Amino acid sequence: MLRLKLPTDPRWVNIAEKNLEEILTDHAFCEQKAASYAISLIVQYPNKKDLVDAMSALAIEEMEHFRMVTEKIEKYGLKLGWERVDPYVSDLKKFFAGGTDKETALVYKLLLAAMIEARSCERFRVLSENIKDKELSDFYHELMISEATHYTMFLKFARKYGEGILDVDAKWQEFLDYESKVIQNYGKKEHIHG
Ligand SMILES: [Fe+2]
Ligand SMILES: [Fe+2]
Repeated sequence: MLRLKLPTDPRWVNIAEKNLEEILTDHAFCEQKAASYAISLIVQYPNKKDLVDAMSALAIEEMEHFRMVTEKIEKYGLKLGWERVDPYVSDLKKFFAGGTDKETALVYKLLLAAMIEARSCERFRVLSENIKDKELSDFYHELMISEATHYTMFLKFARKYGEGILDVDAKWQEFLDYESKVIQNYGKKEHIHG
């Protein structure tokens, strides 16, 4: 369904579950960054009503996810740490490097968001299927379902706003190829995209 070209090696979960405070802190801030990203799209494209409506709902939902993660952190007797850098996302952004007009930039931003949602969704699935803690397994299963709907929503908006500007599906395929090369360098750290 996600069409990602390289699946995550499930052994990554062995690394992740050894340091729950680290993975949950990183995860909490992934949710916060998803909310901030939705808000930034509203600020940059207030003239696109359907996008504004969807992004306001999304920002709220992502902050609910943030709250769910911080509640788990508390329940497990852990502490929320500082925001972690996300080199995976920096690597993805390089695919769209170079200046472009505002309308094309929107399509690129939507494709970037779709990819981050898709990989996050895949990582949540791998966590839910392999993590030994039953409560966290259920938690990641629930979040996996939400992130899958976000991925399809971003792709749908990219197709809509890309019409007449660029071949969105061809760009998406190229981006999927690119992502499969990027992700080869990851899967070694207790971070959601690590
Ligand atoms: Fe989320
Ligand atoms: Fe999301």
